[in-house]
Amino acid sequence: MKKLFFIVLGLFATLNGWAEGATKEKSFWADPFNHPLLPFYSLVAFIFVIIILVIAISIVLIRTMNLLIGQIEKQRAEAMGQAYVPALSWWDKLTQKLNASVPVSQEKDIELDHNYDGIKELDNHLPPWWKWLFYISIVWAVVYFVAYHFSYSLPLSKEEYENEVAQATAAQQRFLESQPKAVIDESTLVYSPDVAILEKGKAVFTRNNCGSCHRNDGGGNAIGPNLTDEYWLHGGGLKTVFTTIKNGVVEKGMPAWGKAMSPGDVRDVAFFVMSLQGTKPANAKASQGELYEPEVKTEKTDSTKTQAVLK
Ligand code: HEC
Repeated sequence: MKKLFFIVLGLFATLNGWAEGATKEKSFWADPFNHPLLPFYSLVAFIFVIIILVIAISIVLIRTMNLLIGQIEKQRAEAMGQAYVPALSWWDKLTQKLNASVPVSQEKDIELDHNYDGIKELDNHLPPWWKWLFYISIVWAVVYFVAYHFSYSLPLSKEEYENEVAQATAAQQRFLESQPKAVIDESTLVYSPDVAILEKGKAVFTRNNCGSCHRNDGGGNAIGPNLTDEYWLHGGGLKTVFTTIKNGVVEKGMPAWGKAMSPGDVRDVAFFVMSLQGTKPANAKASQGELYEPEVKTEKTDSTKTQAVLK
């Protein structure tokens, strides 16, 4: 008995190793044809099909044989002038055995001596099929206990859930990594009043409470400078403003936003800040820093026209 216990334990331990290996490997169905265990699974499936076929053929053969034997016995009984009583099939025998019910003719033997207004009671025992189910459930409980709570060979619901979440997170991570990343090179940034970018930039400005230090209209307050005039503490122009927002001026209380937001968000909000130029909000903070004049680019093709480009 002790030996058997250890054999079963060993079996579960191997199962455990298997399950661990399987969870570390990527799932079979993700890419069945390149899975290392494909030959093994195919072999198991093949053997399974063969077993089913053998069972099916055996059933057909046995039935035919029984039919033939029945016919021979019937002929023999007729030849001997006896009445032919067909033998019980295995199924009939099995149901009789499983039910083991007392025939009505013998009920007298198991009658209890109760009698309530003509209602009597029989001392029927539990049908064997019921008892067997009970025994099987006891055995199953032991197997279940050892597998789930003793050897931890199989995952409990919580663990199953956690495994699935971990797998989904890993899949999400892989997907995100496979997506091309937008490369934002500040040295090539050129300002344009792109409505979509300005909208997003405004959202970033609002979301990060830039207004708490620069006022919602960018006019500046006791903490942050005016962002709507042409005077800049750290230099004007989109590229410089982008860098200021990205790196911040931490010692003066301007956070380094490049650490907290994506380069795309920094670009968008820098565009938005540039769009505030010349909006002249009421009660704006007095200008600080130096006047920034955008580079003036002369269009060579038409010398009569001069175009200012915010750079
Ligand atoms: C906690 C307050 C605070 C917040 C929030 C803040 N800033 Fe600032 N910001 C400052 C201060 C203070 C300065 C001036 C630093 C200095 O004196 O050198 C500044 C400077 C700037 C400058 C440079 C101005 C110049 O004259 O060169 C820009 C551009 C700017 N902030 C944009 C932003 C944006 C965009 C946000 C939101 C993403 C933001 N700031 C959020 C405090 C803040």
